[in-house]
Amino acid sequence: MTQNLTIRRPDDWHVHLRDGAMLSDVVNYTARQFSRAIIMPNLTPPVTTVTAGTAYRQRILDAVDPSLSFEPLMVCYLTDTIDADEVARGHAEGVFTACKLYPANATTNSSHGVTDIKNIYPVLEAMQRIGMPLLVHGEVTHQDVDIFDREAVFISDVLKDVVKDFPALKIIFEHITTAEAADFVMAAGPNIAATITPHHLEFNRNAIFQGGIRPHYYCLPIAKREKHRLALRNAAISGSPKFFLGTDTAPHTVEAKQSACGCAGLFNAPYALEAYAKVFDEEDALDKLEGFASEFGPRFYGIPLNDGTVTLTRKDVSVPETLDVMDTKIVPFHSGGTLPWTFSRS
Ligand code: NCD
Ligand code: ZN
Repeated sequence: MTQNLTIRRPDDWHVHLRDGAMLSDVVNYTARQFSRAIIMPNLTPPVTTVTAGTAYRQRILDAVDPSLSFEPLMVCYLTDTIDADEVARGHAEGVFTACKLYPANATTNSSHGVTDIKNIYPVLEAMQRIGMPLLVHGEVTHQDVDIFDREAVFISDVLKDVVKDFPALKIIFEHITTAEAADFVMAAGPNIAATITPHHLEFNRNAIFQGGIRPHYYCLPIAKREKHRLALRNAAISGSPKFFLGTDTAPHTVEAKQSACGCAGLFNAPYALEAYAKVFDEEDALDKLEGFASEFGPRFYGIPLNDGTVTLTRKDVSVPETLDVMDTKIVPFHSGGTLPWTFSRS
């Protein structure tokens, strides 16, 4: 049985770091485990200009522990009125790695999101031309579509057309949660990929209602049925370079989660690699973890693989019930539990 697994230093291709005091209190959890991270732009107001992206990147770098080397990869938030030239300039100047499509009101801080995909066709045209990836929150937002169907309907009503109309555009379908999404990505061309979170690999929708309502299992896209979780596990361990690591770590204070209208998102950064290692081990696929965590992402984005390694050791680690942030608490994923793998920077 493998006791120590040493892999190339990984990256996290989907992270919410927030801003201000929250940023300072959460960033080093990600920086300790990952060399680079794609930083989601859903701040208030969202990051929609080169100036805002540059300033946010600097605030992140200022908050990182200087003993950790960490590179934030910035993302531009697409709005109905975003200017294609601004996006292209941000990419040319090395500020923006990618753009994020949030359908309007799909999730936390997405009220400025896109109301009709046709509104951003000029931007998608430019992105296709310059090879800039489009990161997609793949859910329709109409209230007449059941919350558990919103990802599958997004594929048929929106994503299929985008792929057809922009056949060379690099697209990353973020935090996929359904068999339909895994199948769609697998069958698509090499310019279509997906990220998969640890939580969607670990629990299904029953966890949200286990003996009562459990706000710490609520995230968007919402966890689906068991058959979907199993499809995601198959995709993650398949060895296909189309599927790679993106935690979607999304910190909210305990007050914001435990509320009559609680926020969506799990804070999984502190034990992210331990959680993925548990899943790959359960699937007898530890040999597939390095590709998923450290190789497929940079290859898809077209950037060099990291130097250096990290090690996971088969040794229990206890996850605290809460962690201190901003004069209050945050409840991490696996709160109060134990994970069978321990992470160390090797
Ligand atoms: C994210 C957040 O809180 O910013 N929440 C979540 O449930 N994943 C937004 C997102 O990625 O949808
Ligand atoms: Zn997210």
